[in-house]
Amino acid sequence: MVRIRMSEPYVGKEEIANVTESVRTKMRSDPFVPEFESGFAKYIGAKNGVSVVNGTAAIHLALAALGVKPGDEVIVPTLTSIGCTNAIALTGAKPVFVDSNAEYWCADPKSIEKRITKKTKVIMPVHIYGHPCDMDPILELAKKHGIFVIEDAAEAHGSEYKHKRVGTFSDISCFSFYGNKVITTCEGGMCMTNSDELAEKMRILRNQGTKPEYKNKYYYDMVGFNYRMTGMQAAVGVAQLKRLDFLVGKKLEMARQYNEIFDAKSKNVVRAPQMEWAKNTYWYYSILVPKKQREKVMQALEKKEIETRPFFYPIHMLPHYNTGDKLPVAEDLGFRGINLPSGPYLTSEQIDEVATEIIKITG
Ligand SMILES: Cc1ncc(COP(=O)(O)O)c(C=O)c1O
Repeated sequence: MVRIRMSEPYVGKEEIANVTESVRTKMRSDPFVPEFESGFAKYIGAKNGVSVVNGTAAIHLALAALGVKPGDEVIVPTLTSIGCTNAIALTGAKPVFVDSNAEYWCADPKSIEKRITKKTKVIMPVHIYGHPCDMDPILELAKKHGIFVIEDAAEAHGSEYKHKRVGTFSDISCFSFYGNKVITTCEGGMCMTNSDELAEKMRILRNQGTKPEYKNKYYYDMVGFNYRMTGMQAAVGVAQLKRLDFLVGKKLEMARQYNEIFDAKSKNVVRAPQMEWAKNTYWYYSILVPKKQREKVMQALEKKEIETRPFFYPIHMLPHYNTGDKLPVAEDLGFRGINLPSGPYLTSEQIDEVATEIIKITG
């Protein structure tokens, strides 16, 4: 039986040729790093791309560039990757958790508004599983209170809010290129910003606090990190960029097929959101099932060699982040949600098999 995986990287000859070239040229980062940065920034529609080692580092770098420090608060949805909160914790700031919107599962602007205090430095909306946040009310709140916005678009390459790609709405946005993302560099991340000043600061911070062009190679302007993306990672990224439209198209077609089956045959499965103001690129195709059936569904699929993932565990309920908050929508979604196989090699027959197995249990 062939195992149906969540997702596998779509790589071929071009990625291998580029990596070979990178190694042959003694793994100097040029020319792949700037080519990947400018190519991805152009695709997203942002002025500057600053590549880093992974998506968590991208968030940490963005927070550091905005001067987030101990005593500050950063508003973040509880239903998200642990990378968001770990990056906040690394700055010494306090993550302040907010609830999800029941319809589209991203941070709810009303919940954000309630948690703004004098200490709030950043709001971090996360475009969860590929569906965009409702950015207008979030940007309005940020403007009203003088707060920065960092969009986490790790899972949303090519998604759109009101016909504009996500990653272009905030002071800095962050992407991940981990192996399961729409395009990958094995591990990798990138910050996007329209501000030349912030881009310059992030380039210095990712490079131990110095600039490559300094005459004295051991002169540093500030405390920094070693977060530079390698030439080999960027070499893969440059080849992946050429596949980006194709891979987004594959996601949309996959979602269309899952939607069609669930709409026609299921009464009890709530399918992945698609608000009228959004273009979801379905990084993971996600569903909600009745809470008491989730384990049964996941186990039945596993028996058939079909991989699934539960939704993110609400972070405010983890012992080391527990705040005692009650965030009922996220707590409900977190224990009802299942991410289904969503990779580019998935066939129509496999999509049919996955959906049919689920509907056998849930109806
Ligand atoms: C929404 C979100 N933010 C941040 C990250 C962290 O990215 P990375 O795994 O590249 O560190 C992830 C994880 O993949 C993610 O899904």
